[in-house]
Amino acid sequence: MPVLCFVSAAVLLQLGAPAAAAASRSNLEIVIGGPPYYEPSPPPEYEPCPPPPPPRGLQPSDFENLRQYKAYLVIQRFKKTITCDPLGVTNTWNGPKICKYRGFTCDTPPNTDDRTIAGVDFNGFTLAAPTICGFADGLPDLAFFHSNTNNFSGTVPDLSRLPFLFEFDISNNRLGGPFPDTVIGLKQVVFLDLRYNGFFGRLPPSVFSLDLDYLFLNNNPFNTPIPKNVGRTSAAFLTLANNGFTGSIPSSIGNAAHTLEEVLFLNNRLSGCLPYEIGLLRRATVFDAGRNSITGPIPLSFGCLKKVEQLNLANNRLFGPVPDSVCQLPRLLNLSLSDNYFTEVGPSCWKLIHRGILNVKDNCIPGLPKQKSPEKCAAFFAKPKRYCPNIHIVPCETHQYGGYYPPTLPPPAPEPTAPPPSKTYSVLHRRLL
Ligand SMILES: *[C@@H]1O[C@H](CO)[C@@H](O)[C@H](O)[C@H]1NC(C)=O
Ligand SMILES: *[C@@H]1O[C@H](CO)[C@@H](O)[C@H](O)[C@H]1NC(C)=O
Repeated sequence: MPVLCFVSAAVLLQLGAPAAAAASRSNLEIVIGGPPYYEPSPPPEYEPCPPPPPPRGLQPSDFENLRQYKAYLVIQRFKKTITCDPLGVTNTWNGPKICKYRGFTCDTPPNTDDRTIAGVDFNGFTLAAPTICGFADGLPDLAFFHSNTNNFSGTVPDLSRLPFLFEFDISNNRLGGPFPDTVIGLKQVVFLDLRYNGFFGRLPPSVFSLDLDYLFLNNNPFNTPIPKNVGRTSAAFLTLANNGFTGSIPSSIGNAAHTLEEVLFLNNRLSGCLPYEIGLLRRATVFDAGRNSITGPIPLSFGCLKKVEQLNLANNRLFGPVPDSVCQLPRLLNLSLSDNYFTEVGPSCWKLIHRGILNVKDNCIPGLPKQKSPEKCAAFFAKPKRYCPNIHIVPCETHQYGGYYPPTLPPPAPEPTAPPPSKTYSVLHRRLL
């Protein structure tokens, strides 16, 4: 018996006194069961060893610091609410070493020397929980929260007490309700990804005042007009695709000329004219307003989108001639104008058709194959047309309008292959690629 007691004491010492009770107990059983140390029953005069103490909760002193202890309590509370964990992630959420838990990252926040939970990365874990309230907002030192492709339900908690949060990604979950106004309080946030959830109703204009680089709102049921101040956004990458937005693209979009690189309005219920201010987006490489009910001609200003590589206006109610200056844009890799009511293409556009860059099928262009029937075109043109202002404004210098190419412009791209992967198109997939 003394051997047994000695061994058990040694095991405890080896583990470090405050180690998790459950862990030390299972080690102990292994040692007890091991034949070399087992001795015959002790004589009756000896007291048997006391049974191991019942497991106790971890104490603050078991942790590196108090912040970690508090985070531990929050994580354990959240763990109890998880109803599905197919990858067994939460099996690692035991004991005081919370920085080793799968899905968590520790770092030292700016206001202390204590290392604590600074990041949550649950991307692809497919955890299910009825809410993240009390969890995301219970970890006050978070710098990032990434939870793409989980089954979290409920609403977004009040995040106003997370002063360091700069990336918030809850994409592809089952969160919902009106737009979570709480994110407006996130003054540090640069990456906001709410796509593939059930957020509905109106978008608050203040979302475009946030100091963001990325704003992904695609694949929700938002169903009101896009706020007039959309162009106030500082985001370089903006996706509003696959919602139910109504009304027209606000002309303030031109205010984003210095910052906006990719914007997706694809597949909403947008109508009205294309504002000429879109042509001011001189940094834009991707502009996609396909699959809406937008009407009118393509403004001549589109010939100023000098960096555009992918321009999609397909599946709308656009009409008139396709401005040849658009077909002269030097970086075009994909110009999709199919399923509209265009009536004419100029020589540069012909070249793009032959190179497979311009798709104009299902329009009303005489002499081209795969066009709409003359009856369908006639019916469309018999209806009164909306007047679109400013379509002749050209806010840049072009070949056609007496200007010249500034010598600093890079040469046109060589023969196109598939367009390069774009950040906004990749988030039209549910999961992160
Ligand atoms: C979420 O849960 C539903 C029903 O429980 C299930 O069908 C679906 O596959 C889950 N999604 C993920 C990403 O695990
Ligand atoms: C061009 O863009 C359209 C619209 O986004 C898309 O459907 C098509 O697949 C693209 N073509 C190529 C070759 O990438």
